[in-house]
Amino acid sequence: SRSINLAVISGDGIGPEVVSQGLKVLRAVLPQDAKLETKEYDLGAQRWHRTGETLPDAELEALKSHDAILLGAIGDPSVPSGVLERGLLLKLRFAFDHFINLRPSRLFPNTRTPLAGNPEIDFVVVREGTEGPYTGNGGSLRTGTPAEVATEVSVNTAYGVERVVRDAFARAQARPRKKLTLVHKNNVLVYAGHLWKNTFDKVAAEYPEVSTDYLHVDAATIFLVTQPERFDVIVTDNLFGDILTDLAAAVTGGIGLAASGNINPSGAFPSMFEPVHGSAPDIAGQGKADPTATILSVALLLRHLGYETEAARVEEAVTTDLTARDGSPRTTEEIGDALAARVAG
Ligand code: IPM
Ligand code: MN
Repeated sequence: SRSINLAVISGDGIGPEVVSQGLKVLRAVLPQDAKLETKEYDLGAQRWHRTGETLPDAELEALKSHDAILLGAIGDPSVPSGVLERGLLLKLRFAFDHFINLRPSRLFPNTRTPLAGNPEIDFVVVREGTEGPYTGNGGSLRTGTPAEVATEVSVNTAYGVERVVRDAFARAQARPRKKLTLVHKNNVLVYAGHLWKNTFDKVAAEYPEVSTDYLHVDAATIFLVTQPERFDVIVTDNLFGDILTDLAAAVTGGIGLAASGNINPSGAFPSMFEPVHGSAPDIAGQGKADPTATILSVALLLRHLGYETEAARVEEAVTTDLTARDGSPRTTEEIGDALAARVAG
């Protein structure tokens, strides 16, 4: 029989609340014969305050033995900005070579969008996950003086760009509309822009059925708001992808519904699934957080591990649940219970 050996990093703020609902739905949807083992890792703000550690080597090693990681949220105002982001979240993405940061955006039925005319929105952003300006390449001279100079270097390798572009073409090919848009800024970032565009055009030749498009990132933000239906699959670098996917979440019912997967398709390392949102310390512990983004991340996790039927069942449950809701506020647990009941039925 099948089994899932899952690492859980609930993390900070609303993280533990949304993760427990995610696990509830995961347990409810798995077939009887599939065994689920979970191990919680005590990582995040509290751990840092207690021990000064963000992600010790021993735990990084231990995490490697799991089939996948479910992460809630990391970060707290009491921890200096960047410490947990770099020392934990990005460290995991880099150490486990999560070069695909997959972020689907769908406007679900009965979901409020700030966009006029309720357009159809159903696209997926394939955000590069291990390069760009996230590599920590840079420095500061004469720090803190009026003559300070700061550099932040974006690293783009042929290897890194080609593997994410290939993944995006394969995803576009598998979708009904078969359209792929490259988003960059090659009128200004000419070196990286050249590498991305060249690689994109080269791989495009192998996918004659996929229609291709190129947009500068600033123009892409306009179209995301004025014409979101023009997007099917977007491929872009780490930082542009970070920004575009927050915007995408905002136009598809908010960050409470946005799921993501940090994926290493080779399976050499466990992939990690997490809601796009943060730890929201202002509403932590009040049962106000929407666990749907985490539950949709669980669907991505299931799909990654080969449980396609179960993944689809979770996504259908979310669609039905959002269609059926009457607008009265529900607690984190009520939403989790409703979705667990739907996937079990
Ligand atoms: C995200 C977050 C992270 C990112 C931060 C917390 C490092 O904004 O997952 O989108 O920039 O990737
Ligand atoms: Mn972000």
